Amino acid sequence: MENKRFYITTPIYYPSSRFHIGQAYCTVATDAMARYKRLTGCEVMFLTGTDEHGQKIENKAREAGITPQQFVDSIVTAPGGVLALWKLMNISYDRFIRTTDGYHVSAIQKIFKKIYDNGDIYKGSYKGKYCTPCESFWTESQLKDGKCPDCGREVVDAEEEAYFFRASKYADRVRDLLLNTDFLEPRSRVNEMVNNFIDCEGGLQDLCVSRTSFTWGVPVDFDPGHVVYVWLDALFNYMTALGYQNDQYDDLEKFWPADVHFLGKEIVRFHAIYWPAFLMSLNLPLPKKVYGHGWLNFNGDKMSKSKGNVVDPYLLSERYGVDALRFFLLRTFPFGSDGNFTNELLIQTINVDLANDLGNLVSRTTAMAEKYFGGALPADQREDAGLDESLISLVSGLRDRYEAQMEKFQFQNALEEIFKVIQRANKYIDENAPWALAKDMEANGARLARVLYNLLETVRVCTILLTPFMPESCGKIFDQTGADSGCQSWESAARWGALPAGVTVRKGENLFPRIDMAKELEELDRIMEEAKKAALPAVEIEPQAEETVDFDTFCKSDFRAVKVKDCQRVKKSDKLLRFTLDDGTGTDRQILSGIAKWYAPEDLMGKTLVAIVNLPPRKMMGLESCGMLISAVHTEHGEERLNLLMVDDRIPAGAKLC
Ligand code: MSP
Repeated sequence: MENKRFYITTPIYYPSSRFHIGQAYCTVATDAMARYKRLTGCEVMFLTGTDEHGQKIENKAREAGITPQQFVDSIVTAPGGVLALWKLMNISYDRFIRTTDGYHVSAIQKIFKKIYDNGDIYKGSYKGKYCTPCESFWTESQLKDGKCPDCGREVVDAEEEAYFFRASKYADRVRDLLLNTDFLEPRSRVNEMVNNFIDCEGGLQDLCVSRTSFTWGVPVDFDPGHVVYVWLDALFNYMTALGYQNDQYDDLEKFWPADVHFLGKEIVRFHAIYWPAFLMSLNLPLPKKVYGHGWLNFNGDKMSKSKGNVVDPYLLSERYGVDALRFFLLRTFPFGSDGNFTNELLIQTINVDLANDLGNLVSRTTAMAEKYFGGALPADQREDAGLDESLISLVSGLRDRYEAQMEKFQFQNALEEIFKVIQRANKYIDENAPWALAKDMEANGARLARVLYNLLETVRVCTILLTPFMPESCGKIFDQTGADSGCQSWESAARWGALPAGVTVRKGENLFPRIDMAKELEELDRIMEEAKKAALPAVEIEPQAEETVDFDTFCKSDFRAVKVKDCQRVKKSDKLLRFTLDDGTGTDRQILSGIAKWYAPEDLMGKTLVAIVNLPPRKMMGLESCGMLISAVHTEHGEERLNLLMVDDRIPAGAKLC
């Protein structure tokens, strides 16, 4: 008998900045899975939440000049925050945990003490590297080019007294779990874990599980000054949220062990190695599965604010609708592998699958039912086995094919099965040419009614199976196609003919309007460019050069005050200005300078500038330039800007700067 309960989790997110679409990916997938399981009749517990402790949050709060609690509140509960985003994206979680919730904090203290008491946590001192953004410890040899092997960012030295968890003691059991069971999927991630962290030089290292160099964490109650390492604190959320070591909830027996933890590939290490080891130490049952999905990149690059490519789920939902966005994420990228998000792909998916295939099928079918039968199909219908058989048999087997893929978390394949049927149904319209049948209603009315019924029945089954992905739109399709709640069930998705023959349809709004690709891409580029500028600090100063120059070399540079006698644009150049300068020698000096973008020649007349005059002459646009005017450089909204150095006009031409 199938397990009728299903416990699924997302990682709990660091509320350190506004979320991008990559961060919503896992939660959308988890939501689709949870909705699918509910559809099949399971009692589901879908847990998500926020991971609010750690050095990264403490640092960010300090930078913002507020307390860490105020900082995390501003990202979790404020308008535009995490909770609002999940509401917008129709995420049907059953429970939301914040690791700053009192019940979780005291449970973590008890858990830490329990592991300490059983001898698996001991005191030592830590010396190594720490990646603050990932909240990860690394040894020198694990670094990649001196940087964090997970995120590629700088690591810092960490040296402090700390508690350690005896992960090494569980190395054999964890290796066995990974190699000889289906605990970790996709299976392609197994070898990386085993080779890099268990069968590596020195074997599985004990894990540092407390910190003393900052305070924003769960205090180790028996040793003030230590806070619990954020990953131990975070991983146990999966159990404290069910009531483990607390009285807040009482669902542990009902839902633990979890059926599956969904998470991104870079945190598989914590879930597939340390998490089972912690549980082994406490003699607790292990989760049944850990699934490490791939990463979404954007235009082949990591999503990042400073690159201006952070794809904003609020913006995308507003432009295309939440359902189209949810659908795109799970239809386009295989869940276990990395995916490359591009605006073209998004628009193409919406246009092809939703507007062309699904949208068209629904609108053509309902429009014809209205046109030929006033919306209500007559019960008198005529089958034509030769023409109907292949569509009906394809639809009849759809639920099983879909289920097989969903059970393996192959969302893309499950959707592919549905869309094969939708495409077949569109072809069925052409094969049966209802418009031709309608020409002689007396002879062909019953046949026409059957054709439309078969189409509505196909739409009904597909819509049931699409509901986990696009809950709101599917509700609207049921309304339009007259499939009431009695024929929206999982059971009825495997039953051809559940829709009453005399069904009444109501053609409604166009659910998935076609998007003009060229226009939309232009608009998205403009929006991204603006986002990029907004993400950059308004003014950036060039970093100071670290290389030194000896004094004698420096003294060789001859800087002089020069006065502008004349200034003209250089023909055919939009960069260069030609200066005629008084350098105090009595002979005019000509210097060309690439500052035409920022200065009008007339504004510079008579000004006292600074030039280096002993550079060898060089030719630019056929004109000789004898020296160089000195400018200050800074970056403004991502663009470089030159500012001519102007000095007091009382300084005579030719005065030497030293
Ligand atoms: N707080 C930890 C998880 C603790 S779970 C006990 C954490 N948080 S996170 O906010 O950094 O990441 C949350 C999830 O978002 C991770 O699974 C991560 O893989 C995922 N993603 C973040 N950016 C992503 C993409 N660009 N693409 C896909 N998923 C990505 O890690």
